[in-house]
Amino acid sequence: MKIAIGNDHAGVEMKNQIADWLREQGCEIINVGNDDPADRQDDYPIYGYKVARLVKDGEAELGICICGTGVGISLAANRVRGIRACVCSEPYTAQLSRRHNNTNVLCFGARVIGIEMAKMIVKEWLEAKFEGGRHQRRIDMIREIEETGRLAAAEEKA
Ligand code: RB5
Repeated sequence: MKIAIGNDHAGVEMKNQIADWLREQGCEIINVGNDDPADRQDDYPIYGYKVARLVKDGEAELGICICGTGVGISLAANRVRGIRACVCSEPYTAQLSRRHNNTNVLCFGARVIGIEMAKMIVKEWLEAKFEGGRHQRRIDMIREIEETGRLAAAEEKA
């Protein structure tokens, strides 16, 4: 599996550990993150965008984003149409985010969780499969909001 991975200065060490660990399991990693933890001028939207773009363009199947909290980089990734990025600090949410929300970018905070928790989160996320059905209907609604700025089902109910 080809996975794009990106990070700002806060996530360099964790990115390297996760990337090495995934390579050991046979994944191909496209690293578009910052590699210099001393570079405090780097801006997380650049890396969130780069990862999201690779996933959106089909260059990578899935993406992983790491910043201090995971929040900023997830906000940036989610601005690319078709990207469903979520921040996870534990494996339950990571697993359900795939099964129910079909997330294609996983984000976490290097200042929030440790490396073993991060690995567990990534493992659960990669192993889970989207369940479709009623969950697809909800994702279609998210796409409708994304594309039109409106949601017919909500306006009908108003
Ligand atoms: C950088 O200091 C920090 O703001 C960034 O890594 C991230 O946590 C933003 O959401």
